[in-house]
Amino acid sequence: MAPVMFYVLLLFPFGLQLARGADESRVANITLGSSILPATNPTAWFSPSGRFAFGFYSEDGGFYVGVWLQTSPGNNTVIWTANRDDAPVSEDAMLKLTEQGLLLTQKDKEDRFITNLQVGASTASMLDSGNFIIYDANFESQWESFSNPTDTIISGQTLQAGHELISSISETSHSSGRFRLRMQGDGNLVSYPVNTTDTAENAYWASSSDGLPFISLNLDNHGSLYLFQNESRICNLTSNNQNCYHSSTNTSDLANTNNNLSMTDLIYRATLNVDGILQLYAHDLESNTSKVLFEIPETNDKCVIKGTCGFNSYCTSMDEKLVCMCFPGFVYIDANKNGLDANRI
Ligand SMILES: *[C@@H]1O[C@H](CO)[C@@H](O)[C@H](O)[C@H]1NC(C)=O
Ligand SMILES: *[C@@H]1O[C@H](CO)[C@@H](O)[C@H](O)[C@H]1NC(C)=O
Ligand SMILES: *[C@@H]1O[C@H](CO)[C@@H](O)[C@H](O)[C@H]1NC(C)=O
Ligand SMILES: *[C@@H]1O[C@H](CO)[C@@H](O)[C@H](O)[C@H]1NC(C)=O
Ligand SMILES: *[C@@H]1O[C@H](CO)[C@@H](O)[C@H](O)[C@H]1NC(C)=O
Ligand SMILES: *[C@@H]1O[C@H](CO)[C@@H](O)[C@H](O)[C@H]1NC(C)=O
Ligand SMILES: *[C@@H]1O[C@H](CO)[C@@H](O)[C@H](O)[C@H]1NC(C)=O
Ligand SMILES: *[C@@H]1O[C@H](CO)[C@@H](O)[C@H](O)[C@H]1NC(C)=O
Repeated sequence: MAPVMFYVLLLFPFGLQLARGADESRVANITLGSSILPATNPTAWFSPSGRFAFGFYSEDGGFYVGVWLQTSPGNNTVIWTANRDDAPVSEDAMLKLTEQGLLLTQKDKEDRFITNLQVGASTASMLDSGNFIIYDANFESQWESFSNPTDTIISGQTLQAGHELISSISETSHSSGRFRLRMQGDGNLVSYPVNTTDTAENAYWASSSDGLPFISLNLDNHGSLYLFQNESRICNLTSNNQNCYHSSTNTSDLANTNNNLSMTDLIYRATLNVDGILQLYAHDLESNTSKVLFEIPETNDKCVIKGTCGFNSYCTSMDEKLVCMCFPGFVYIDANKNGLDANRI
């Protein structure tokens, strides 16, 4: 075993390595054995710009592990959450980079791995793009937060065929909510309520681009949201080009898509919101303001969002505000939570 230890020490003489083929923003300086705690500074690993962080954030009376964007001083926007449907962890938890991956430990509870690796971890990096990457000893990426989106993709990130965004349950809790946006293997991007099958009658929005397989949903550094099929961008969702779905546009500029974000740039974020609508935001990092640019579906009638009102209730719109009404003979299970299922009286 001794030679192995020696090799490891040589590899990390200063505990710092540059990832292969990358610029300085890819400093892989989170080394094996590095750990963070929920209530002891630093509670997160920051990207070089300080804008993105991977670590513990406070929610639901405890802590979750995730990635967030600091949108202004003291204001963070969570863009990814690990094990989002688990109970929050307590102050005695610890997150550690081990050879087997990111390990979350808690007193008197079972240890949990946040990541699933094929090859042993060596270093990790929180990039200025917002991607958290775990590298093996050859600096090949073994795990990326970008590959496992929850409710959000940001500039430079894609949602691959067979994957979906799932909305959060509320504005203050990031566990799985009521809606999903699925990048289907048949090429169609479709919005459904959760716990439904992928059939047209369950859908409340679709890109109608089926028949073009191996498509991914992409958000680029200029805020374009588009569907992509191998070498050609096939549909720019941010323009109202109804004919784009079946044409193959020449987009050699796509090859230049990179994660170069500077402090003077805007960062774009597409989030499947609590209400089932995908919204595209631009975050201006100079003024620390943000703006909604685009939404899917674009409608003032929230009742088109199937599944908004639960079983035994129906949806009505009043002054562009949504109201879930009980069918005759039913009462709300929880009168405070509009949109939940109703019970028979
Ligand atoms: C990694 O390096 C960057 C840039 O020097 C720094 O901002 C960040 O805090 C470092 N992260 C860790 C975990 O040391
Ligand atoms: C914007 O936020 C950053 C990071 O929190 C902060 O350093 C900067 O001073 C803020 N700028 C303005 C104009 O508020
Ligand atoms: C925090 O950010 C949100 C979303 O961009 C914004 O609505 C809110 O006003 C901000 N709060 C503060 C204190 O800046
Ligand atoms: C979807 O199904 C899961 C598993 O049965 C359940 O825990 C969850 O509450 C359901 N979600 C909704 C919104 O009904
Ligand atoms: C791209 O997709 C088309 C149509 O599905 C297919 O014919 C072509 O072989 C693909 N090209 C590459 C490079 O995968
Ligand atoms: C997509 O359409 C928008 C609005 O027309 C346009 O500003 C943007 O440049 C287009 N993006 C690409 C990549 O073609
Ligand atoms: C796409 O554009 C590039 C650069 O303008 C050009 O070299 C290439 O031949 C074009 N491809 C097609 C299929 O038109
Ligand atoms: C990305 O950033 C590097 C270093 O700042 C720069 O040399 C390169 O030109 C940038 N690439 C693009 C496409 O902007």
